[in-house]
Amino acid sequence: MSVTPEAAARLRAYLAYFRDLGVHEFYRWSEPAAQALEPAAAVEAPAPSIAAATGVLPPATPPVVAPPLEIDDRELQPAHMLPPSLREPPAPALRSFDDLVPLPATTIPAADRPAALKVIQDEIGDCTRCPLAYGGRRKIVFADGDPNTELMFIGEGPGADEDAQGLPFVGKAGQLLNNMINAMGLKREQVYIANIVKCRPPANRTPEYVEASTCSQFLIKQIDVVQPKVIVALGSTAATYLLGRKQALAGLRGSFHSARGAKVAVTYHPAFLLREPRMKGEAWKDLQMVMRELGLKPPVKQ
Ligand code: URA
Repeated sequence: MSVTPEAAARLRAYLAYFRDLGVHEFYRWSEPAAQALEPAAAVEAPAPSIAAATGVLPPATPPVVAPPLEIDDRELQPAHMLPPSLREPPAPALRSFDDLVPLPATTIPAADRPAALKVIQDEIGDCTRCPLAYGGRRKIVFADGDPNTELMFIGEGPGADEDAQGLPFVGKAGQLLNNMINAMGLKREQVYIANIVKCRPPANRTPEYVEASTCSQFLIKQIDVVQPKVIVALGSTAATYLLGRKQALAGLRGSFHSARGAKVAVTYHPAFLLREPRMKGEAWKDLQMVMRELGLKPPVKQ
């Protein structure tokens, strides 16, 4: 079986698409297959046809045989069809942010919140608690925005631009997030923005369970300091860890959930919306639900 680089890239894009929709089972058993579909080593091209140019038939040459593609066909089977010994170990039990740590009994006064957040940042320090510390991370991306806001956005993890600047959502997805915030009648500086993990996963892969779980303790503390009324979970990873359950995004949208005393709305990740602009209308419905909750009005068009 030979796979062109274009076909392999298309398959990888499909996998990312399903992951963004929260279709994890498909993603889980298909990812190794996608890796196996790395472009095969270049096959030497056959010589240009002498016959076509001269009318003289060249001596017969042996057929070009593509190198065998090493796909373990177990990886092309759905997980439930594998014998138990070959199945992945069961995923560790997820726990919601509410189940991990008791809710705070007190509220930090507005004037003390910047200092309280600084204490959390200092505690993180030059963190080496999880594998992301060794995956080429440059800057730890703590958060950005107003600690006294009613609205918090939580993404997945820093990308290349965020890793370089030490700020969340400053690349292309960040520009779209800024536009989404502006459409709600707010400025970026008026909300608080953070991520499930604070260090860039290599090649922007989805954070692993151990990475997200290790980092959660700090995000929980940040939420408890800011105590937003509403949290918008951007994409499947944020929703999964905040709510402690893996579920297709479509089933989580359209109503509020709860975490750390805040109402949680789930919507599509801006990076997904950049790939699938036709879904922006759906995301706008989610943001309008948040606006109604916070009594926000969209800016009047000039
Ligand atoms: N994607 C995220 O989830 N977070 C960022 O900070 C940037 C891109």
